[in-house]
Amino acid sequence: MLENKKIVLGITGGIAAYKAAELTRALIKAGAEVRVVMTKSAMQFITPLTLQTLSQGQVYTEMFASTDQYDMAHIALADFADAFVVAPATGNVIGKIASGIADDLLTTAIMAQNKPTLICPAMNDKMLANPVVQDNIRKLRQFGYTVMESGVGELACKTSGSGRLPEIPEIVEAVASILTPKDFAGERVLITAGPTEEPLDPVRFITNLSSGKMGYALALAAHQRGAQVTLISGPTKLSPPPVKEIIFVRTALEMYHAVMDHYSKATVIIKAAAVADYRPISLASEKIKKDKGLTGIELTRNPDIIAEIGAKKKKGILVGFAMETQDLLANARQKLLKKNMDMIVANSLREAGAGFQTDTNIITIIDRNGKTVALDKMTKRNAAHRILDHIRTLSKKKGPSKKQ
Ligand code: PMT
Repeated sequence: MLENKKIVLGITGGIAAYKAAELTRALIKAGAEVRVVMTKSAMQFITPLTLQTLSQGQVYTEMFASTDQYDMAHIALADFADAFVVAPATGNVIGKIASGIADDLLTTAIMAQNKPTLICPAMNDKMLANPVVQDNIRKLRQFGYTVMESGVGELACKTSGSGRLPEIPEIVEAVASILTPKDFAGERVLITAGPTEEPLDPVRFITNLSSGKMGYALALAAHQRGAQVTLISGPTKLSPPPVKEIIFVRTALEMYHAVMDHYSKATVIIKAAAVADYRPISLASEKIKKDKGLTGIELTRNPDIIAEIGAKKKKGILVGFAMETQDLLANARQKLLKKNMDMIVANSLREAGAGFQTDTNIITIIDRNGKTVALDKMTKRNAAHRILDHIRTLSKKKGPSKKQ
C-alpha cells in the first residue's frame, strides 16, 4: 500500500505516544521507509531507542545537534519525505503549527516542507473541545493539512469522549489517501457491494458467498482518489470505509430502490454486488415448522438492476462485474453488450485466489471498445485501483464524466 513511500513520523508528548511504536511498524509493514522525529515531551512517554529499533533508522530529536550527526536535519527531512505524519499530535503542537511557531526540530521541519501532511490529534476531550484548539484545527485544514477526526471512547485520564488517537489501520489508510493523486475529484461514484439476503421466514434466507471485500476496496480506492462515493452495501462483516455516504440494504429489492434513488446523481456506477436473481414469492410471518412438510420454495425474479440502469443511461460510465463458472469471457462480453455497460470486470469462481471472500482477485477488464486487459492475481485493493485506472482512460476518451 505504501511501497517505496518515505514518511517522516513526528511524535509529540501525549500518552498516545506509546502507540507510535505500533504505527511505525504498521507503516513499515505497508512498505514505507520511516524516519522518526520526537519532541522532548514525547521522549517522556517512549524512548528513542524503541523507535530506532522499530524504524531501523536514525531517530531525530535535536534541533541543534552537530551537523556530523545529521545534515541540517529539518531541511534533510523535508527533502526525504513524500509525506509527514504527526501522531499523536497534541493541542500544543497543533497550536504551534497553526501559528507558525518553529521552536524545535519537528515544528521547524514541518515549516520547511510542502509535502502532504497528516495530523492525528490525541488529547483529553475537554482540551480537544477547547475553542482555541478547534480554531487551530480549522486553520490547519484551511492551510491544506489533513487533520483526522479523533477516536471516541475511553481516554487515558479515565474520562470518556472524543480525543483518542485514531486506530492505527485508519491512520495508515489516511497516509495512503494523502499520497494518492486525486484523479477522481469531481466524480460522484456509486458502488454496490456484498451479497443480498432473500428471506423465507424470520430465521431463514437465501444468500451467496460475497463478503463485500471487492466492492469495499473499490469504495475506498475511489474515495482516496478524490471521488464523492456513495456505497450501497448488502450485509457484510466489514468495517465501513470512510466514504461520503453508506446505505445498508438487505434484499435485492432494497438494493434496487437504493440504486434507483441515487443513480441519477452519479457520474460513475460500479456494480460489484452479488445480487440474488430470485426471491421467495412469499415471506412467512412465523418460522416455517418442519412438521408442516415443506416440499419446495416458490421463487420469483428480482429486478435486474444493472440492465435497468443500462437501458436508462445517457451519460456517465456504467461498470458491471461478471462472476461465472464457465465461458467467463464470452459470457462477460455478452453481458456488457446486452446490458449497455461501458466496462465489465470478469472474475472466475474456478480460479484459486479469485472471486468470493479472498483478499485477492484475478480479473479481466473488458470495455465497450473491445479492449480486453487480463490481470494477474493481486490484492482486491490493487485490483480496485486498476479498475479505476481503466475507467479513467474511458472517461478521458469520452470527456469528463457527466451524471447518468
Ligand atoms: O464480495 P467479495 O467476496 O469480495 O466477492 C467479489 C465478487 C465475486 C462478488 C465480485 O467480484 C463480483 O463478481 N460481483 C458480481 C457477482 C455477480 O452477481 O455477477 P453476475 O454475473 O451474476 O451479475 C452481473 C452483473 O449484474 C453484476 O454487476 C451484478 O451486480 C449485476 N446484477 C445482477 C443481478 C441483478 N438482479 N441485478 C444486477 O444488477
